[in-house]
Amino acid sequence: MNEQLLLKAKKILEEGGLVGIPTETVYGLAGNALNAQAVARIFEVKNRPAFDPLIVHCYSIDQVKKYVSAFPETAQKLAQSFWPGPLTLVLPKKDLIPDLVTSGLESVAVRIPKHPLTLQLLAMLDFPLAAPSANPFGYISPTTAQHVRQQLGDQIPLILDGGPCQTGIESTIVGFQKDKTFIYRLGGISLEEVEKIAGKTEIQIHSASHPHTPGMLKSHYAPKVPLKIVDIEVEGIWEELLKKHPAEKTGALFFRRKIPQIPAAQQIVLSEKGDFAEAARNLFAALRYLDALPLEVIYTELLPESSLGRAINDRLRRAASSGD
Ligand code: TXA
Ligand code: MG
Repeated sequence: MNEQLLLKAKKILEEGGLVGIPTETVYGLAGNALNAQAVARIFEVKNRPAFDPLIVHCYSIDQVKKYVSAFPETAQKLAQSFWPGPLTLVLPKKDLIPDLVTSGLESVAVRIPKHPLTLQLLAMLDFPLAAPSANPFGYISPTTAQHVRQQLGDQIPLILDGGPCQTGIESTIVGFQKDKTFIYRLGGISLEEVEKIAGKTEIQIHSASHPHTPGMLKSHYAPKVPLKIVDIEVEGIWEELLKKHPAEKTGALFFRRKIPQIPAAQQIVLSEKGDFAEAARNLFAALRYLDALPLEVIYTELLPESSLGRAINDRLRRAASSGD
């Protein structure tokens, strides 16, 4: 069955069309990265501003080398350690990559995703796939085929269903400047893991005023119901909060436990056992679930600021920043 779907996907992509693809991080909206028209269509379907460059997906390091003009040693080590996997490397681009893909930047973001279906598809194609997350710009990234179908289903001819995403948050974006290593976006590979291979690494998250990595716009990944970060350990906090919105209009997204003051069906626990990877895997589906309820507010809390907790907190802060 997969074979036929893959052939159908191949045909659509060869003709310049778009396909929803599973990856280990989130679902992507994929098109031929070498075809400027297909790339333009990606921006159009996502309603994405042209200044926000795309990630190019390949199936092997050899294929990546066709599209980058330099591949520093640290980058190669990271690639060998984490590909296929949730790591994106920003490297100098060759002219083969259309300017539209990189929003005119001289660098291109590349990665090898870790999903058997998508790796199989990539191996069948003689071009790489440009793919942003398959959500309307600014909304929560999709971690199931159903999420993609709900929002973009009528605009794309095919979504490959590869099951729920195993990592659940986007790839970590790493770049290099003058022999130094930088993380431009926190994601599925933690700072600690990057540093084990690359040594000292600085987190340099770009802001809206410097749209080098506009996936990093302050308000992003945002639900429609306002999300607010609170400290649930503060005494008397629920008395205060429930004065602003009644319990039946309040949702909660906490790390390890539900709270008794709010109906249980309006609460999601990210990981009862306090496991960061499990929390990351559940995060976006939880936000979508709560966002679909008739609520006035969703309360959430930050996780400990280490390992994948950092990336989860980054998404929560962005999701919350349009809440005020
Ligand atoms: O996990 C992922 O990376 C997913 C899956 C589908 O692979 N893709 C994804 O794509 O998250 P998107 O488009 O939602 O985010 C891509 C990010 C943006 O923040 C963009 O600004 C940054 O990559 N980016 C792309 N090219 C860049 C470049 N040349 N320099 C710096 N940042 C770049
Ligand atoms: Mg995105």
